[in-house]
Amino acid sequence: MLSPLHPLLVVWMYLLVSNRAFPVYNNGFFYHDVMDGDGNGEIYIKRVRLHVESPQPSVSAARGSNITLPCHYRYEPEINGPRRTRVKWSWLPANGAGKTAHETDVMVAMGNRHRSYGSFQGRVRLHRAAPGDMSLVINELHQNDTGRYRCEIIDGLEDESVTVELELRGVVFPYHSKMGRYHFNFLGAQRACEEQDSTLATFEQLFAAWDEGLDWCNAGWLADGTAQYPITTPREACGGVDLASGLRSYGQRHRHFHRFDAFCFSAAPKGQWTVYFLKGPRKLNFTEAVAACTTDGGLIAKVGQLYAAWRFMGLDRCDAGWLADGSIRYPIAKARPNCGPSEPGVRNLGFPPLHQKYSVYCNR
Ligand SMILES: *[C@@H]1O[C@H](CO)[C@@H](O)[C@H](O)[C@H]1NC(C)=O
Ligand SMILES: *[C@@H]1O[C@H](CO)[C@@H](O)[C@H](O)[C@H]1NC(C)=O
Ligand SMILES: *[C@@H]1O[C@H](CO)[C@@H](O)[C@H](O)[C@H]1NC(C)=O
Repeated sequence: MLSPLHPLLVVWMYLLVSNRAFPVYNNGFFYHDVMDGDGNGEIYIKRVRLHVESPQPSVSAARGSNITLPCHYRYEPEINGPRRTRVKWSWLPANGAGKTAHETDVMVAMGNRHRSYGSFQGRVRLHRAAPGDMSLVINELHQNDTGRYRCEIIDGLEDESVTVELELRGVVFPYHSKMGRYHFNFLGAQRACEEQDSTLATFEQLFAAWDEGLDWCNAGWLADGTAQYPITTPREACGGVDLASGLRSYGQRHRHFHRFDAFCFSAAPKGQWTVYFLKGPRKLNFTEAVAACTTDGGLIAKVGQLYAAWRFMGLDRCDAGWLADGSIRYPIAKARPNCGPSEPGVRNLGFPPLHQKYSVYCNR
């Protein structure tokens, strides 16, 4: 790429040329042709190589943690002296995938000045551990920070970028409405996951869950606006035995009119809270259960939190309890007789009438 130099750089280049510190090679990677452009003292340079690299194409983290997305640049040949280098970090959200996908700004920086945008304001900075280190540090990761981050280095000569994928460790769970199966349109599914402290799962997250053995015979919305379901054991009732195991997709569905369940994604917590079974002398109706958690200094647990605690903290309790959505569930990390099926999992007893009495899971 050829582009005119900034006047200050031109002066500096002249100095370099005149004291012969300037390497002139002709392998195409280096400066090899300094031209006195149009005879008016402007020069143009061919082939300064700006390299932008990331040693880690993807980073996986827990929610609430601080992470660094690596990005480094260097010039070939190495050049010393001041450069008007700008860095721009932008982001393609995993949850905004589909038709509406577009990159949004995270941060731009030049010299010591920088500016961050949107939900990243006050949460991001450049690492700057060494010259050329433009790694992005994000504090207190949100669940919805996942996606593809682009580190773009811009100077007068070139403009190069590299992308880093940010994934959160987490667990995918199927979720259906209290009103019954196949009740959610797309927005309803998105809202239902958020109400359970989770987000609508991406295709990659559901695929990973299927790979780890998730088998579920009801289609749910994904973040990209498709409806799919994961099958590890093909069977007649779930799309037939002729199809191989995998994700069965209905493709893009109408976001307003079509109705399915949801696949939600709950990111692993980083010690901000724990879910626990509230020990008490008696069983409680739903109103009493909500109040009992509050009295205990917490809140009644949400479904996404129970799944995360089961999956990442080994929560195991063979007692059915209320959760915030009015469902009754319990987490089994080590399967055993009289505690549901022979695999570990969060057992779901559905949505009983709110006056019935059970124990409760709280979050603190
Ligand atoms: C993240 O960084 C912030 C600010 O630097 C610090 O206050 C906080 O304790 C860090 N959090 C974790 C989980 O390390
Ligand atoms: C992402 O989550 C944070 C808090 O968890 C919230 O404040 C923010 O509005 C969310 N952003 C989007 C785009 O949903
Ligand atoms: C739960 O029991 C309390 C009395 O202890 C009662 O006031 C309340 O209405 C009950 N809630 C439900 C949902 O039945």
